[in-house]
Amino acid sequence: MNNSTNDKFIIKGLAGKRTLSGTIKISGAKNAVLKAMAASVLFESPLRIENVPDTEDTDKMLTLMTGLGISTEIAPGALHIDATKELSTDLDHDISKSMRASVVITGPLLARFGNVSFPAPGGCVIGSRPIDLFIEGYKKMGAAVSIKKHSNGDDRYEITAPKNKKGFCLQGAEIIFPIQTVGGTETLMMAAVLAEGKTVLKNCAMEPEIVSLIEYLNACGAHIEGAGTPTLVIRGTAGKLLKTNAKKPYVTIPDRIETASFLFLAAACGKDITITDCEPSHLEVIIDMLINSGVTIEIKPSHIRVTASGKPLTSFNIRTHEYPGFPTDVQAPAVVYLTQTVGESRVFETIFEGRFKYVDELVQMGAGITAMNPREILIKGETPLKALDGGEELVSYDIRAGFAVILAALIAKGTSVIDNTYFIDRGYEAIEKRLKALGADITRIIPE
Ligand code: EPZ
Repeated sequence: MNNSTNDKFIIKGLAGKRTLSGTIKISGAKNAVLKAMAASVLFESPLRIENVPDTEDTDKMLTLMTGLGISTEIAPGALHIDATKELSTDLDHDISKSMRASVVITGPLLARFGNVSFPAPGGCVIGSRPIDLFIEGYKKMGAAVSIKKHSNGDDRYEITAPKNKKGFCLQGAEIIFPIQTVGGTETLMMAAVLAEGKTVLKNCAMEPEIVSLIEYLNACGAHIEGAGTPTLVIRGTAGKLLKTNAKKPYVTIPDRIETASFLFLAAACGKDITITDCEPSHLEVIIDMLINSGVTIEIKPSHIRVTASGKPLTSFNIRTHEYPGFPTDVQAPAVVYLTQTVGESRVFETIFEGRFKYVDELVQMGAGITAMNPREILIKGETPLKALDGGEELVSYDIRAGFAVILAALIAKGTSVIDNTYFIDRGYEAIEKRLKALGADITRIIPE
């Protein structure tokens, strides 16, 4: 993927008609593959990862890892990662500041090499997104934490593992998360895999991406119990690295957030759309809500078919929640869909405090949305949407808000221009090609 970061999308809207038809194939999950890539540091043998999405974030993670001395080979849809040599443990500042998932590799690096240095990670601006729970967890495992200044004035964490007879090793500990954190669960779990002794993580996140990571690590010699439950018990190997099995690569699970994004698009703009290579069991809450809203959905083991019923769609309320609840990453596309349903909907965002920035764009397009407080909006539908006047551009504030404005532009009457498509490319592979195949009139403009 190579977005020139200033690419734009031009979208000619359907003016409320539901005419898109065809098949859309789901990619491997961005938020699974980035963590599997980070896990390569735990291995004494090279790691093969399959069903890899071609997105900006996978490119960025590869660049970050190459900068540490990890050798990577890219094949179509697959990665071969060899992290078996002595590596640097200083994360590249700029890449780390541009992608939240960079923080996940600090666990394996600290556990294997006894030290790691990195900035507070950046990524989607959807709230403050601190890493206090990571730091607290490292301290509980015996690590010493200091903060130094980077040349540009940013703070950088310098973390060292405690000494033991063999040099250094994180110590098993009991860590209770005050709130469920996906990255915190994944990072401290991977650190615990190489620690000395038993680690118990409580109030863990239970996302399918975490379960798939645990299953793979256990197949390679880790001892992690409790996958899919709030309590993980990890018996550390005291520094003994994991071993890959050449016949069993890590196969990235389908991207459930991408699937949900396309479900709402199909419900709002589709005549007859089939979403393939997906995992419907990861989306039960969303599918049930859409069926109750009047959407005709047919479910098969690895694909979902959405057909227009011709009847008006009815509104519903959303309260985002950790898995298996309604995912916060699907909130923005769902709000756009709700503007096309009859009745009032209340959407309460419980996870991030700054995830409604895109709503202003929708209101300018004609949506009836009122902010009740920083965490709650009220939607009154259905309202026709129209492209912004005078060629004013729609802004993509983050990956999922970017998809939301694409959906709004597809629904709208008129032609829309979408700016900073780079964010969309971070999380959705070849989005314009796949939407074009459904009949959408979308073009990528690459500035000279
Ligand atoms: C992961 O982010 C995903 N990103 C996010 O997806 C997703 O929105 C989020 O999980 C929640 O599902 C990746 O996996 C790369 P958290 P993460 O730690 O791990 C607070 C996308 O669009 N918190 O579960 O960073 C935090 O501020 C992205 O694909 C602390 O306070 O999310 C938030 O309010 C956007 N201190 C809550 O926990 C900490 O140390 C949940 O965050 C860590 C987190």
